[in-house]
Amino acid sequence: MAVDLLLGLQWGDEGKGKIVDVLTKNYNIIARFQGGPNAGHTLEFDGIKHVLHTIPSGIFHPDAINLVGNGVVIDPVIFKKELDNLQPFNIDIKKKLLISRKAHLILPTHRLLDAASEASKGKAKIGSTLKGIGPTYMDKTGRNGIRVGDIEMDGWRDKYRSLANKHEAMIDFYNVDIQYDLAELEAQFFDAIETLQELTFIDSEEYLYQAQRDGKTILAEGAQGSLLDIDFGTYPFVTSSNTTAAGACTGLGVAPGKIQEVFGIFKAYTTRVGSGPFPTELFDEYGATMGKVGNEFGATTGRPRRCGWLDLVALKYAVRVNGVTQLMMMKGDVLSGFDKLKVCTAYNYKGEKIKHLPYNIEAENVTPVYTEMPGWKEDLTKMTSVDQFPKELNDYIAFLEKELETPIKIVSVGPDRTQTIHR
Ligand code: GDP
Ligand code: IMO
Ligand code: MG
Repeated sequence: MAVDLLLGLQWGDEGKGKIVDVLTKNYNIIARFQGGPNAGHTLEFDGIKHVLHTIPSGIFHPDAINLVGNGVVIDPVIFKKELDNLQPFNIDIKKKLLISRKAHLILPTHRLLDAASEASKGKAKIGSTLKGIGPTYMDKTGRNGIRVGDIEMDGWRDKYRSLANKHEAMIDFYNVDIQYDLAELEAQFFDAIETLQELTFIDSEEYLYQAQRDGKTILAEGAQGSLLDIDFGTYPFVTSSNTTAAGACTGLGVAPGKIQEVFGIFKAYTTRVGSGPFPTELFDEYGATMGKVGNEFGATTGRPRRCGWLDLVALKYAVRVNGVTQLMMMKGDVLSGFDKLKVCTAYNYKGEKIKHLPYNIEAENVTPVYTEMPGWKEDLTKMTSVDQFPKELNDYIAFLEKELETPIKIVSVGPDRTQTIHR
């Protein structure tokens, strides 16, 4: 059987958690392939809102297995909190949640290093979630990291100590004012490691290979978004993993030829949290309304998200880099009542009109060229089928499909599981 893949096409927070939850009924296994607790994936059903950071978004379904893949970085302290939040739901965690032995661990000093690095950058800071993501992936590629499989073996604490000592020296090197009590942080860390040790660790690439042979259906769940990809995003204002389709192969050990559907998910407008260029960002009433109606606050850090019109130049780039086969448009309901909608279809770049994403998309290099469309007045949140859609929404969707040369198969009209319309 093939593996399907769901990933965000913008700067994250497109609604991946919601759609993975909606699609889980079609799959046996949901597998996260990159990122870590910088992610905040929200899902809602039966009037309850859940936010997951590391645990895949299929965890509330009775039959699905949820796998944390080798490409993910795990903070045991945050992981333990996530498990605590799941306790009221009586989920058989030992059976339903599997963890790759090759996933790397975020140490308390990785978090401190993240804070020190950001503080040292001043105004040029990335706007990191300060979860230690960058330093942990640096230790992974620098071949110094500690993996989940290590904590099954004796002697890993020596490796921990020498790495933490090195990190402390590095924190001193940054010479910034970071207050911390490492003994306290380590007490929490080792306590959480004990919880982690009670879970099921597996050789996940072998597990997924056998699952495919046995005809099991697998959905790979991405975190962040394509424009935060370490290679293809708006570097250096990106995260430290490959958020694009290829990341699912390296983050799970799935062969490229086994990937079938690539579901690309985007908001009907654009948001970004943290620093970095954002050509269609709005500083007017339209942007403020998107933020307010869309409740655009980071699910991990609570920071307000920057809002702007849909950027088709960037979206087209993401569709191509990922080989998206089906699109899903989220949060169309937020745009109800807008007298007009604008969609960026090209950039003015150094006196020239271009339709591709150039190397630099900072405001001094790029001005968006917009196509204006009429908005719709109707409230979409109670609609249950495409037949109820206003003409202006259908026109908006048709325009995007034509520009992106890819069908929009799901339109989401609210945060709840049920507010999902298939086309
Ligand atoms: P993720 O990181 O991609 O999983 O997305 P987040 O959970 O960080 O952010 C998406 C936010 O939008 C969450 O608060 C969701 O509950 C909410 N949401 C998802 N789909 C819709 C939708 O169609 N309409 C509205 N109004 N909210 C939505
Ligand atoms: P989900 O999975 C939105 C952003 C941060 C920062 C940059 C680097 O919920 O879509 P990092 O902590 O990775 O060093 O931060 O990336 N960022 C996200 N923005 N959604 C996310 O995840 C994000 N994860 C990281 O705000 O700008
Ligand atoms: Mg999020």
